[in-house]
Amino acid sequence: MKTRIPHDIPESQVTPEAVYRSRREWMKLGLASPLLALAGCADAEDAPGAASAAPAARDSADGFRAADELTRVQDATSYNNFYEFGTGKVDPSKNAHSLRTSPWSVVVGGEAELTGTFPLEDFLKGQPVQERIYRLRCVEGWSMVIPWQGVPLGALLSRFKPTSKAKYVAFTTLADPDQMPGVRYPALDWPYREGLRMDEAMNPLTLLATGMYGKPLPNQNGAPLRLVVPWKYGFKSIKSIVRIDFTEQMPLTSWNQSQPSEYGFYSNVNPDVDHPRWSQRSERRIAGTASKLFAERIPTLPFNGYADQVAAMYKGMDLAKWF
Ligand code: MTE
Repeated sequence: MKTRIPHDIPESQVTPEAVYRSRREWMKLGLASPLLALAGCADAEDAPGAASAAPAARDSADGFRAADELTRVQDATSYNNFYEFGTGKVDPSKNAHSLRTSPWSVVVGGEAELTGTFPLEDFLKGQPVQERIYRLRCVEGWSMVIPWQGVPLGALLSRFKPTSKAKYVAFTTLADPDQMPGVRYPALDWPYREGLRMDEAMNPLTLLATGMYGKPLPNQNGAPLRLVVPWKYGFKSIKSIVRIDFTEQMPLTSWNQSQPSEYGFYSNVNPDVDHPRWSQRSERRIAGTASKLFAERIPTLPFNGYADQVAAMYKGMDLAKWF
């Protein structure tokens, strides 16, 4: 029997491949982008010929569908950070073929009523797969816009009945030197670890992705299961997850552990807080047909443009202190 791993959503719900053309390409063809139509915001300004005067297209109100021009599949799958396969941008696409993504299981532990080891199919069972078009901004200063398929993390976590002691969720990546050549070198203290506060994990934007561009996740993008947290710097979006723990204390995270002065636990995208070694005011947007080298520099937005959906979670917090 074929197992339904949910990248595998009904054809009718996946944005067709042709729609993944860039907005600019559709403009060139004299057509308004079907993406905008899907996002429910193909208004008059998006009509052919009005490109230069058009105000920026709007995301869907829930933040689930960014209106930005999409990154090409080939760029999203060949310019990656996945240090378990090397620290160069092309290393993951060259080396990640050695990752065995099936069978795969996820250990759930800590402050929850239901814990244990779950084969991936059981772990994801019954969770409706959704498509989300998210911007993801890397702390290094580049960003992409990717159509993901996956399950909202919050609904999935609720199934394990976290107890009142569960204040945080900790995530761990596989660390197997036989499958992951980068793990043989101490680039980070393996395994790669990340964490979210409980309300961040439960936020409707937080996605556990199983696919992108309507296909299963490529290994270099974190197959078979990765987090996507679009309002935080990309390193929070941990790949190839094998373990999830509910914790009472703020969990250790890899980048914070390696450079606490540079990478905080929260790591919300914030143009007003510079990285100690560079500004975070702008980003190189890798999208559309322009070569990566000539990618357009655009201003970085607070919470990566998702302030309407997430800013309330940080009300009263000094975001320069809690970076
Ligand atoms: N997860 C693991 N396990 N190892 C990593 O090195 N890199 C992070 C994040 N998740 C990383 C990881 C960083 S720095 C970024 S920017 C994103 O993955 C990149 O995701 P992408 O390659 O799919 O664009």
